Amino acid sequence: MKEELEKIKDNTLKEISSSAAIDDIEAIRVRVLGRKGELTAILRSLGKLSHEERSETGKRSNEIKAELEDAIEKRKSELGSAAISKLIQSEWIDLTLNSPGSTSLRAHGHIHPISQMQYEIEDIFSSMGFEVLDGPEPELEYYNFEALNIPKHHPARDMQDTFWTEDGNLLRTHTSAIQIRGMEKKEPPFRIVGPGRVFRYESTDASHENTFYQVEGMMIDKNISVANLIFVMKELLREVFRQDVKVRLRPGYFPFVEPGFELDISCLICGGKGCGVCKQSGWVELLPCGLVHPNVLKFGGIDPDKWSGFAFGLGLNRLVMMRYGITDIRHFLSGDIRFLNQF
Ligand code: DAH
Repeated sequence: MKEELEKIKDNTLKEISSSAAIDDIEAIRVRVLGRKGELTAILRSLGKLSHEERSETGKRSNEIKAELEDAIEKRKSELGSAAISKLIQSEWIDLTLNSPGSTSLRAHGHIHPISQMQYEIEDIFSSMGFEVLDGPEPELEYYNFEALNIPKHHPARDMQDTFWTEDGNLLRTHTSAIQIRGMEKKEPPFRIVGPGRVFRYESTDASHENTFYQVEGMMIDKNISVANLIFVMKELLREVFRQDVKVRLRPGYFPFVEPGFELDISCLICGGKGCGVCKQSGWVELLPCGLVHPNVLKFGGIDPDKWSGFAFGLGLNRLVMMRYGITDIRHFLSGDIRFLNQF
């Protein structure tokens, strides 16, 4: 019986190592170690042996059983990983390729026209020494109104319909909140721009959206005047529209600037002669701006006797609409691929 055991072991090990398929190995396992297997039969017949023989043969049988089980597992996993490597070699596909004959299946995405304009403006201002700052979309009433010289019950609050949260905060109605956060963070002199998304509780039409984009700007230094403001604005517009742009200032009221202005540009569509876009006036209202109100400087922790500054709020949607002749602001958030693919 001993010899028979060793023979089973040697033969089985040989077979295992020369087998090339997991199914074959499984067959070997069943044949040798299965319920009616060769080795199992020996283990079952131990009862017929003498006490001494039984313990010796039993021990050896169990050793062999363990050795075979080990060999089977090892060979199975060898064959398994070989099969996987073979699959990887023979069946790999290049997922980045278009299928034959198609050119647009994997069309590349691109940056939204508003973001394109935003990045462009950030670059223009960076080149003039402005730092780009960020601010939160859900904002404290303090930053959005109070510190901008718009106290509670001030009628100017009515100009900006607001989404309030239940705990008394709000979705910022303008990027001007970034002015205050910027002043708190920086020591004058400084120049900052703050692009971002803003929200108004408004019904929408071709020129009103509840969600739109602005770029806020602020420059604080000694003896800042309207001349500095006009120069920087003209510089910006020349870069954006790639031509010299004529501007004019009209008085405009915003509680956080004094004096406050509406900056108009000479209509780029008709060259100032008068057309549908400029409503025959030759001028298009483009951006509000002004010299920072002393109260606002104080709220920002800056001494208005030492420092002065200008600020402006640029409507990004408006600018993109002007550049491309887009006539309805609602296109921007419509998600309409036909609209977006044009840029
Ligand atoms: N925050 C104003 C708005 O959204 C725009 C604005 C006006 C910003 C004058 C300014 C400014 O910085 O000086 O209506």
